[in-house]
Amino acid sequence: MALYLITGIAGFIGSSLARELLARGEQVRGVDNLSTGHRENLKEILDRIDFREADILDLDAMHKACAGVDFVLHQAAIPSVPKSVLDPLGSNRANVDGTVNVLVAARDAKVKRVVYAASSSAYGDTPTLPKHEAMKPDPISPYAVAKLASEHYMVSFYRCYQLETVCLRYFNIFGPRQDPSSPYSGVLAKFITMMLRGEQPAIYGDGEQSRDFTYIDNAVAANLLACKAPADKVAGQVFNTATGRRVTLNQTFKLLQPLTSYHGQPKYGPERGGDIKHSLADISKAEAGLGYKPKVDFEEGLQRTVEWYRAK
Ligand code: UD1
Repeated sequence: MALYLITGIAGFIGSSLARELLARGEQVRGVDNLSTGHRENLKEILDRIDFREADILDLDAMHKACAGVDFVLHQAAIPSVPKSVLDPLGSNRANVDGTVNVLVAARDAKVKRVVYAASSSAYGDTPTLPKHEAMKPDPISPYAVAKLASEHYMVSFYRCYQLETVCLRYFNIFGPRQDPSSPYSGVLAKFITMMLRGEQPAIYGDGEQSRDFTYIDNAVAANLLACKAPADKVAGQVFNTATGRRVTLNQTFKLLQPLTSYHGQPKYGPERGGDIKHSLADISKAEAGLGYKPKVDFEEGLQRTVEWYRAK
């Protein structure tokens, strides 16, 4: 049994990681400042985890949180492109300074490995598809820059201090517990909850933008594989975490109509600043290095997510 520290444990991805680790009989500690995460996400597991309400910007709290830990899964962030455009300083503090604190604390505590929630936004709007890890990054939004800077810190801590780090570039992760309530929420959480309520969703732009939407179970699996894969294959490396298939927002809306019994049309509006047009991953490096294979495809993931929100 190993001890895992999850930063951002009260978030959608953090709490999903915690559930899976507990199911596998592992020990879980977690920190969250509850700025975007919710205690509600931890409701049925709170008595089985060591939860600490703390901010990753608090180095002392991070040192205490890392004591005795084997693996750190660093998910804590302010995860929003448009929010970072409005508040680049806040985005940088949480997404870069926070990451450096976690790394320093993990290094000092001699943690075995840190796995980082990096972002596909690092690729930017370069026309080449699919995106592969050897491509030169070209981030657009402050959020994307911050996530990429933190990737470089991960690699730097491996090179300078031999702290084993692995970066997982998440491509639009979705699923149960993703918060639909903020204007910055992921598009699928928003669309599904609105359509279930009979409300008209808004598509920013012509709806022909596409994403490699990735169901949460695939991201959870990638994190656990990244902890256990041999160091010579993964330490100091970056891996796409995705499905290798893209769908447009218009196609997604059509798939959701029968699942949510919504018969209206979407409302089209102006494109959103800082957005990229298309996103699609090459997942061959993750397949070779981590032994990763997407387990749940997009349609199945949509169905499971709609069922979860409907039952809520
Ligand atoms: C981006 C990053 C992703 C990151 C996430 C954090 C890319 C490819 N991905 O996702 O790595 O984790 O930010 O937030 O850069 N949209 C609508 N209507 C809505 C909401 C959104 O049409 O009500 C559109 C957006 O304009 C965008 C698409 O849906 O074109 C996806 O948006 P969103 O879910 O916010 O994710 P990304 O910005 O792609």
